[in-house]
Amino acid sequence: MFRILTVFGTRPEAIKMAPVVAELSQHGSLVESRVCVTAQHREMLDQVLAVFGIEPDYDLDVMTEDQTPGDVTAAVVTGIDRVLADFSPDLVLVHGDTTTTMSAALAAFYRKVPVGHVEAGLRTHDRYFPFPEEMNRVLTDALSTLHFAPTLRSKENLLREGVSPDSISVTGNTVIDALTDVAGRAGLPETELPEGKRLVLVTAHRRENFGRPLENICRALRDVADRFTDVSILYPVHLNPNVQRTASSILGGHDRIVLTDPLSYLEFVRLLKVSHIVVTDSGGLQEEAPSLGKPVLVLRRETERPEAVEAGTVRVVGTERETVLNECSRLLSDDAAYEEMAEAVNPYGDGRASERIIGTILSHFGHGEVGRPSEFEPRQANAPSPGVRSGAAADPTPRGRADGSGGPRCSS
Ligand code: UD1
Ligand code: UDP
Repeated sequence: MFRILTVFGTRPEAIKMAPVVAELSQHGSLVESRVCVTAQHREMLDQVLAVFGIEPDYDLDVMTEDQTPGDVTAAVVTGIDRVLADFSPDLVLVHGDTTTTMSAALAAFYRKVPVGHVEAGLRTHDRYFPFPEEMNRVLTDALSTLHFAPTLRSKENLLREGVSPDSISVTGNTVIDALTDVAGRAGLPETELPEGKRLVLVTAHRRENFGRPLENICRALRDVADRFTDVSILYPVHLNPNVQRTASSILGGHDRIVLTDPLSYLEFVRLLKVSHIVVTDSGGLQEEAPSLGKPVLVLRRETERPEAVEAGTVRVVGTERETVLNECSRLLSDDAAYEEMAEAVNPYGDGRASERIIGTILSHFGHGEVGRPSEFEPRQANAPSPGVRSGAAADPTPRGRADGSGGPRCSS
């Protein structure tokens, strides 16, 4: 049996690895699959495990109050080393750009266990934005043997860094697999919101936005609620105490601003489907909302996900109070501007990324009869999938910077 250890620790990794874990369970005759959660997040991770019915084989339970990336790195490297000693996997699978990702890859490298990196090759080419995720993904790619690039753009980033083409496959992003699963489950949102209002769905939690940028964002959101009486704002607030403090002090006490605890992925996707616009600094939401035809304003100065920006559904607006207010106001008052951004596009996946990832692994290591799967091409994404609309291929004009001066940085 080929032994695969899948490691994740935070909410977004869990959402994006759940379809991979499910796909692995389809190959029980060839693969012994075990799941290790670091629990870099505790409550927010457990919410995802419940939605997807995952019971981890190992739980490192590393989270501490207001932890630093250094705290997490030390605990994860030590904890994963013990799990590797116990299970002796033939491959470790990690996802994305968190401290769990980088530390698990490092621990595997120290034991000379090959690493497969899911969502490889995303880059802003700015080591401090997002911080520390940009460096986490660069280091993880350097440590990995197999690179599962979600898009052609991410593959090109890896090739430019000298990564061997044989180690890279373009798979689509597994978040679309997860979204396809969850969006297809029936039911209406349960969260209580002011009736008959257009919903602005907000998330914001990035470390580089702590302090003044997050205060600016919150003030702008309050301005939006004051200016548009037919709008309600829902912000499920990240459990990081730095985020909780700022959000509740600036946004609390407004009758059309609802602050909640983080919502289960099932409930969040239901709300996403009925939302009018999305305002966020999240990575995953930049991939999900476009496939549901929801305009996204990104609260960052640059993005590692240029594809939906180029397709026109995502706009990078930065964190200045006036700019955020103006960009929200434009979408809320100008129907033509709204319609232009509300076109559903699907550059990130077709719901079959996990199948490609596991097929590629089995073929690479010479297991089973399956040949190397064909790669993801955005145009194939037009095939309808439950609850996930698909649409136009990306236009090649880059428009990704918060200052509107051109595309996201593509070279260092
Ligand atoms: C981390 C990831 C970031 C990802 C984000 C997703 C890194 C470097 N960053 O952010 O890429 O976008 O998770 O949400 O790995 N907390 C709880 N309960 C939870 C989760 C968090 O109480 O379920 C609180 C704890 O006090 C914890 C703090 O939030 O110490 C920060 O969590 P952490 O995972 O360190 O957050 P980030 O590094 O900001
Ligand atoms: N999400 C969720 N509940 C919430 C807010 C977000 O399930 O209350 C989902 C969202 O759909 C996306 C993911 O969490 O798939 C994004 O996670 P997060 O913002 O924590 O991290 P990032 O994407 O920025 O790395």
